[in-house]
Formats: sequence, C-alpha cells, structure tokens
Amino acid sequence: MIRLGGILLGVLVALAPAALANGDAARGKAKGEQCFACHGETGNSTMPNIPSLAAQPAGAMFLQLFLFREKLRDVPAMTPFVEGRSDQDLEDLAAYFAGQTLAPNDEPHDSARYQRGSELSQRLRCASCHGMGYKGQVQVPRLAGQREDYMLMALEQYQKNERTGIDTNMVAAVYGVPAADLAALAHYMARQK
Ligand code: HEC
Ligand code: HEC
Repeated sequence: MIRLGGILLGVLVALAPAALANGDAARGKAKGEQCFACHGETGNSTMPNIPSLAAQPAGAMFLQLFLFREKLRDVPAMTPFVEGRSDQDLEDLAAYFAGQTLAPNDEPHDSARYQRGSELSQRLRCASCHGMGYKGQVQVPRLAGQREDYMLMALEQYQKNERTGIDTNMVAAVYGVPAADLAALAHYMARQK
C-alpha cells in the first residue's frame, strides 16, 4: 500500500503540469466519438450512474483516464476505451470534454434535502478540495451539476472503501456520515451551477 502510494504520488507530480497544458480539444473530439454513446457528445450524460464530463477540470479527467488505463481504478465499462491510448490521446480527450458546457439540472428540487446538503457541505468542508462553487480544481473533480445518482454511488463506494482513487481523502471525508446525509450531499451538489 505504501509503495503504491509512493508510485502514484510520483506519477501525479510528473503529470500534473503536462495534463493541463498539452491537450488539443479538436483532436480530442475526433478521438472521443466512442465516448459519446455513454457520456453524451457534449459530455452531458443522460445515462444512470454514468458521470457527465462537461466542464470538468482537464487535469481531473486526465488523471482518471490514466488510472483507468493502468487499472488502478478498475472499471470494466471504461477499460476498452482507454486501452492502448497514449498519454497524448488522454490529454486530448480531457481537453475536449473540459471545454464543453454543462447543461442545467432541471430535476425536481427537494428543499429539505437541499438545505441539509448545503449545511453538511460547509461543515465537512467539501470546497476545501473541490474548489469554490464545487467546480473542481487541478486534479480534483467538479461536483457542481454532476449527476446525482452517480455522486451518491461514488460516495457510498468511498464509505465502504470499495472505490479506489489517487488517495484516501474521500474515504476520510465521508467517514461516519449517515446514508441519508450522503444522499443530501449528492442532491445539493447536483443542483449547483
Ligand atoms: C460503455 C459506456 C462508456 C463509454 C463508451 C465510455 N465511458 Fe467513461 N465511464 C463510464 C462509466 C460507467 C464511468 C463511471 C464508472 C464508475 O465510477 O463506476 C465512466 C467514467 C469516466 C470518467 C471518470 C469521470 C469522473 O468523474 O470520475 C472519465 C474521465 C471518462 N469516463 C471518460 C471517458 C472517455 C474519454 C471515453 C471515450 C474514450 C469514455 N469515457 C467512454 C462508461 C463509459
Ligand atoms: C481532502 C480533499 C477532499 C475533500 C475534503 C473532499 N473531497 Fe471529494 N474528492 C477528492 C478527490 C481527490 C477526489 C478524486 C477521487 C480520487 O481520484 O481519489 C474526490 C472525488 C469525489 C467524488 C467523485 C466525483 C467523480 O466525478 O468521480 C465525489 C462525489 C466527492 N468527491 C464528493 C465530496 C463531498 C460531498 C465532499 C464533502 C463531504 C468531499 N468530496 C470532500 C478530494 C476531497
């Protein structure tokens, strides 16, 4: 575990600046046609439990694509689409989706859950990593406007320690948070712009 952490940290340090600078969105669109069936042509997913990619930080997407390719985040649905891709391909794909506009969320709004999610996200300091307005930053993903079902699934997986990522920050962030509060957090984040 410790050794894996060391390797990953090295990888992140090496990739961080490159990932933000070198992607070409036009090339990414051409390379990303296979992605549209699941994530939507403009990165707005209409599929349950499949994340939207529009307006996500390029660095965050590059990192996840890299983790999928190296099977450090093992998601069978994603594997065939990243296997054999170069780092440049991943950067181009990330640049394309990062430049897309996230569609507004028009799903019904539950004021009690929204209010609870707002309080919790301040108390648990989600913005300290996910950035102002939860728009994501550097390698931390955007939460604002992401699909509610996908975020709830992710939060539940982190809590059960069933979701691997770059580190254990998220496992710690949701430690001991009751199930109803995870749902409130996902409800609130999905309705941020
Ligand atoms: C068959 C459907 C499918 C296709 C096609 C697909 N994906 Fe995915 N993708 C998924 C699923 C499902 C997840 C979420 C997995 C999970 O966390 O359980 C995902 C997650 C991701 C994530 C992580 C997002 C996040 O917020 O963590 C990125 C980035 C991504 N996909 C990019 C792509 C790109 C780029 C392509 C095309 C090269 C692609 N995907 C093709 C199903 C697909
Ligand atoms: C200490 C930093 C940190 C804090 C605090 C934090 N997060 Fe995260 N979060 C991350 C990182 C980093 C990731 C990317 C996952 C990875 O690769 O490990 C992430 C991923 C996520 C994801 C998955 C998003 C996706 O697109 O796959 C959700 C949902 C999430 N966080 C919600 C929250 C909520 C809600 C809070 C507040 C309760 C929170 N986070 C607090 C760092 C943090």
